[in-house]
Amino acid sequence: MTDAVSGDTFYDLPGVSEEYLRRRSQTGHPNDLMEEPYVRELMGPVTGRSFLDLGCGDARFGRALLDEGAERYVGVDASRRLLEHAPPATDRLRVQHATLRDWRPEPGSADVVTARMVLHYLPDLGDLLERVRSALRPGGAFVLSVEHPTLTSCYDLADQEDFPRSWLVRDYFRPGPRPLHWLGGTVVKHHRSIEDYLTCLEGAGLRLAALREGRPRNGTLDEETLRARQHVPMYLIVKAVLPADRAGAAQSWTVP
Ligand SMILES: C[S@@+](CC[C@H](N)C(=O)[O-])C[C@H]1O[C@@H](n2cnc3c(N)ncnc32)[C@H](O)[C@@H]1O
Repeated sequence: MTDAVSGDTFYDLPGVSEEYLRRRSQTGHPNDLMEEPYVRELMGPVTGRSFLDLGCGDARFGRALLDEGAERYVGVDASRRLLEHAPPATDRLRVQHATLRDWRPEPGSADVVTARMVLHYLPDLGDLLERVRSALRPGGAFVLSVEHPTLTSCYDLADQEDFPRSWLVRDYFRPGPRPLHWLGGTVVKHHRSIEDYLTCLEGAGLRLAALREGRPRNGTLDEETLRARQHVPMYLIVKAVLPADRAGAAQSWTVP
């Protein structure tokens, strides 16, 4: 694991952001078919709502949300190279260069906080989720998506060439770092079980509202891809809400 780097530096390694954006922009990208539709379903209506997007990448999500009538979008990301591709700042859209390890939110500023495909880069979620709670308005929602724990469990063991037929689930109940060779570099992703994620949310005073596993849907994939995608779940998507009576209340808890 000598040359493995953390998620907040990985995307600025030479060539990584270019390769990431090239793949992410391809028609039929799995995130577009099996992650974003569920994030949107759990988020609910967009019009007139204020969004905070953690690990926003090039903030393409913000552009779409504003086009659909969102009141405000703030994106946060650690990659300067990805943020260079974000839309220019306006009074309704802003991006912020920061690592989520020590970023601090504007309290009570968001109706919806999203964290799409970023939390598995963080070694600890406890303090961050406290900050998510403080960013939410009472009754607000937090929607997260991560690489599914059945994938992250064995990134350090899996044969990447033969995915998904040879996929193994091992060490599922051992949380912690899993280095993965990907996009021409090696990045450390952090595995947690589904239960670990839910325990973290509960500990931060956020109440579970819905959970999805990125089930591939008939009609969005050709038959062969649909069959392949039915082997292994790729995404875990969770919605948690800040109950109006719990806003600002500190909780006592332990983070997996
Ligand atoms: C897979 S991309 C997802 C981008 C975007 N949310 C999307 O779904 O298209 C992961 C993003 O997380 C960011 N990231 C990883 N670790 C981070 C950290 N500790 N703080 C802030 N951003 C981080 C990366 O720079 C990258 O933009």
